[in-house]
Amino acid sequence: MPELRGRFVEAQPLEPADERIVAVRDSAIAGFLDLIGSHVSNLFVDPQHQGQGIGTALMAEAARRVVGDLTLSVFTLNPDARRLYERLGFRIEGVKTAPFAGSSAEVWIMRKPRPGKWPSGDTPEG
Ligand SMILES: CC(C)(COP(=O)(O)OP(=O)(O)OC[C@H]1O[C@@H](n2cnc3c(N)ncnc32)[C@H](O)[C@@H]1OP(=O)(O)O)[C@@H](O)C(=O)NCCC(=O)NCCS
Repeated sequence: MPELRGRFVEAQPLEPADERIVAVRDSAIAGFLDLIGSHVSNLFVDPQHQGQGIGTALMAEAARRVVGDLTLSVFTLNPDARRLYERLGFRIEGVKTAPFAGSSAEVWIMRKPRPGKWPSGDTPEG
C-alpha cells in the first residue's frame, strides 16, 4: 500500500485488544492477529513470511475462538488482503471512511457469516 506508507509511524503503539494471537516461526514472531470481541482489529505477517499460509492459519485460530460472525475492515487500497478474506468466506457489507493516523482512509467492512450462538442448554442440530 504505497499510498499509506508514509502514514505509519515506527513507534506507534498497537491499540489494546481482547486477545492477541501470535504466530511463531523458528523461535521468532512471524505474525499476529488481534481480536476485539468478534472483530479482527489487526492482522500482520512479517513480509519475509508472507504468502506461506500464516495469515490463513491466524484467521483459522481466530475463527476457532469466536462464536458467531467474524468482522473486519480493510483499506480499499489493499485488494490483495481483500482477496484473501473473500477466499476465507468474508463478504463485503459496505464501505466507510475510518480515522487513520490523524486523518482518514476508506475501508471495506467485511463479515464472515457463521452459525450463531446457541442459548445455554440448547445444542445445534446436525
Ligand atoms: C494480508 C496478510 C495478513 C496475509 O497473510 P499471509 O500469511 O501472507 O497470507 P497467506 O499466505 O495465508 O495467504 C496468501 C494470500 O494472502 C493474500 N495476500 C495479501 N497480501 C499478500 C502478500 N503481501 N503476500 C502474499 N499474499 C498476500 C493473497 O490473496 C494470497 O492469496 P493468493 O495466493 O490467492 O494470491 C499479509 O500479507 C500481511 O501482513 N500484509 C501486510 C499487512 C496487511 O495488509 N494486513 C491486513 C490488514 S486488514
